[in-house]
Amino acid sequence: MKENADTGPDRKYMIDAYPLGTLQDGQFKRGGDDLAIPPKKVLPATKEEVGAIYSNAFEVGKRFCFSQLTRQRDIKVPVHGDRFFNKHIAIVGATGSGKSHTVATILQEAIAAKNGDYTGLNNSHIVIFDIHSEYQSAFPEANVIGVEDLILPYWLLSEEEMEEVFLESGDRNNYNQESLLRTIVTLCKEKDNSGAEKVYFDSPLKYSVQDLVNCLMNLSVETKDADNPLHIITDSDDKSFDSEQAKLESYCSAPLSFAPTQRASKDKIGINKGAYADGSIDKFVRRLASKINNPRLQFIFGEKSTELSLEDVIGQLMGYKAGVNSNITILDLSGIPFEVLSMTVSLITRLLFDYGYYYRRSKNTCDTPLLLVYEEAHKYAPKSGLARYKASLSAIERIAKEGRKYGVSLLIASQRPSEISETIFSQCSNFLAMRLTNPDDQSYVRRLLPDTLGNITEGLPSLGAGEALLIGEATIMPCVVYVTPCDPEPSSSDIPYLDIWKEEWRSISFEEIAKEWKK
Ligand SMILES: Nc1ncnc2c1ncn2[C@@H]1O[C@H](COP(=O)(O)OP(=O)(O)O)[C@@H](O)[C@H]1O
Ligand SMILES: [Mg+2]
Repeated sequence: MKENADTGPDRKYMIDAYPLGTLQDGQFKRGGDDLAIPPKKVLPATKEEVGAIYSNAFEVGKRFCFSQLTRQRDIKVPVHGDRFFNKHIAIVGATGSGKSHTVATILQEAIAAKNGDYTGLNNSHIVIFDIHSEYQSAFPEANVIGVEDLILPYWLLSEEEMEEVFLESGDRNNYNQESLLRTIVTLCKEKDNSGAEKVYFDSPLKYSVQDLVNCLMNLSVETKDADNPLHIITDSDDKSFDSEQAKLESYCSAPLSFAPTQRASKDKIGINKGAYADGSIDKFVRRLASKINNPRLQFIFGEKSTELSLEDVIGQLMGYKAGVNSNITILDLSGIPFEVLSMTVSLITRLLFDYGYYYRRSKNTCDTPLLLVYEEAHKYAPKSGLARYKASLSAIERIAKEGRKYGVSLLIASQRPSEISETIFSQCSNFLAMRLTNPDDQSYVRRLLPDTLGNITEGLPSLGAGEALLIGEATIMPCVVYVTPCDPEPSSSDIPYLDIWKEEWRSISFEEIAKEWKK
């Protein structure tokens, strides 16, 4: 309140203030019960005081810094490094708000941070799911895996992942097909791993996918002795088996041609169709065979996938390569066929989680913690329960819920926070909200904040590129920051239209494009 004695009527000012905390002996404390209560003199905080809030926040060794205050760019804003990476992080903002650059800045700082002056890599382990191939330029030393060199063996697929690849979405609830798939895959794994103690459907054990196809093909045309289902007659053979298991095992070896059905008579036995030979699995078997032979899916079903071991696959994903280790592995997903994107993300996510899990179990510690970075996370972890994304969604949700125990954290970036699975979002403890223009997304972010801070989100639509509202457990208090520009930059998806259009007419080799198209 202020009085003006010189002229005219008094002016009264109202200050709408929320107590944030106190600064005592240069140390900022949030909240507290000794806040000033009017009437007391009110002054804006000086730059030194504001500076002191941030410069003394957290012990020196715990500070991790990637931004400054927007209004006072010479004041650095640290976050508590352990709390920041140990709990999941979300970066949200409209396209062009600076999400990718922010991800790059944070990761560049993380791989450069060292607790001594040793040379060589630090012990950070980061995997980026790069959907637009933009990160390679920001991390020239990274281990980049594109569709040409990615190998994800089919024998590592989980039930959900298999269903996503092999079953038509309308058929996914077909219990018959699911259970048949489970039975035969388990059988194939047992057959090829006779030394293994326990074999489950999803044990990471090799088997021949051709065996699976043969067995299913045979079942789809099977005929058998009407009186004895374990007795079959084929062109070349007349066989009786001891068990259903033994019969199925023999069906794995090659496609058979079964005797035609016939009615029993005095001198002939009756021959019936097998249980699956009624046409009900024909579509499924055809689909399976066509997937396995699809040239674009050779990174899953090709020959190389049977040559790699489980440890090779994990090593490849973790940046451990003979002679050229790297802190960052970039999974360039831009060439992955759309229909297997979710399955690919799911399998890799699950393998990395399981790595964390078994590392902890075998060593009783987590000394190689991982950060998994998902760009455009709403694309494969959407809120709506679309069957197509079931696998990737549940793999990422599992990390959101349990990853912390095993040293596996998430960093998700998205332009549509309101479309990301709430399970994932609600597990994030640190947020960078960049410019957001969509009202649904704005109110979504507002809901994350305590009521008293609601009005700080009013500025969200007008933030500049690289500016963000930093909120969460790792910050001393919520504030609007300017993220330090990264160097080198990710390759921007911004195309300088006008510049390019001003150039001379370009000739186009349509042939070359068509060739790429048909690959
Ligand atoms: N910290 C920053 N300072 C200045 N410009 C930035 C900053 N971050 C991003 N930009 C600019 O904003 C544009 C979009 O950034 P980008 O990270 O690609 O956004 P998004 O991933 O959200 O679409 C880029 O052209 C970049 O130059
Ligand atoms: Mg981006």
